[in-house]
Amino acid sequence: TDPLRLGIAGLGTVGTGVVKIIRQKANLLAARTGRPIEITAVSARSRDKDRDVSLSGYAWEDDPVALATRDDIDVFVELMGGADGPAKAATEAALAAGKDVITANKAMLAIHGQALAELAEDKGHVIRFEAAVAGGIPVVKALTEGLAGNDVTRVMGVMNGTCNYILTRMEDSGLPYEEVFAEADALGYLEADPTLDVGGIDAGHKLSLLAAIAYGTKVDFDGVDLEGIQRISVEDIETAASMGFRIKLLGVAQMTGRGLEQRMSPCLVPADSPLGQLQGGTNMVVLEGDAVGQIVLRGAGAGEGPTASAVMSDVIEIARGTRLTTFGQPAAGLETAVPAKSSTP
Ligand code: NAP
Ligand code: HSE
Repeated sequence: TDPLRLGIAGLGTVGTGVVKIIRQKANLLAARTGRPIEITAVSARSRDKDRDVSLSGYAWEDDPVALATRDDIDVFVELMGGADGPAKAATEAALAAGKDVITANKAMLAIHGQALAELAEDKGHVIRFEAAVAGGIPVVKALTEGLAGNDVTRVMGVMNGTCNYILTRMEDSGLPYEEVFAEADALGYLEADPTLDVGGIDAGHKLSLLAAIAYGTKVDFDGVDLEGIQRISVEDIETAASMGFRIKLLGVAQMTGRGLEQRMSPCLVPADSPLGQLQGGTNMVVLEGDAVGQIVLRGAGAGEGPTASAVMSDVIEIARGTRLTTFGQPAAGLETAVPAKSSTP
């Protein structure tokens, strides 16, 4: 059987994790997919960096676009990050060169996902992105496969572990936001641009992707009503607790008579509910469908192992020959359900 040949651009936290799984589990992966999964070539900024994993046997490319267009890869795996720049250029080049694409890049997909999806579908290729939403939680596949027989009625969740860590720590320690933010920074939890985390933007990116899948609409990150956690005080948290609530940075996407509503904002949730019991840097996604009722998914939203686990689920999906469109809808559906701009009720 022909191997599935991968080119991986980005060998940081996630890329290294993916290489480790493929090196350690070659036989298991081949047994589960019916074909060998091989890494042909890799790329990162610095060739000399110690990666904590062997790269022997892989060709090296300095330029991710050159990697993405190599004749000897079938799938371009984009794990560099950044909404624009080399991630977008290499993804476009890969699609133009006839490759499928796997990415963990929620920022790129929230902003350019619609155009990239249309480019992919025009060419008969797929873009898969399980790792882009809630890290190790297989929520994309839960929606596109597990709940495919449902009308989704609501998608909710805590999708930024850093904000959940900060809010939980403020609650446990009584320390003000600024001090806990500094702690999170020292622990390396914050994105290079921390506003992505604490401004709710990263979580908003994720929500916009889930909403597109759940409702068959175009990705509409601009339609997300966004508010971050920067103005939450210890007094707010204590007042909420005195009434039996906790404050969470909660995303909600639901279809209403006014169109799709997408909100990512600090919300009161009952302390004894699944969302109210979520601690620390964990993620939780709550899916509601007309047939299934409510499903609660909880797990690690970040980190080497969990995020690589999600990337591998996409590798396995493609190796098995499953050909879902980018947002899990029939290609024609992309034209049908453009949402009205979100509005807060
Ligand atoms: P990271 O640790 O910062 O690694 C980024 C990698 O990309 C590095 O290997 C870097 O090379 C390489 N790179 C950056 N710019 C490049 C360029 N211009 N040309 C070639 N290579 C370049 O990032 P990460 O945490 O693995 O995240 C990767 C992606 O996964 C991002 O889209 C992120 O949002 C997403 N994600 C991450 C997590 C997580 O837990 N980390 C969770 C979910 C999603 P050097 O190593 O040489 O600097
Ligand atoms: N900054 C993100 C978080 C990383 O804290 O959840 C994973 O997407």
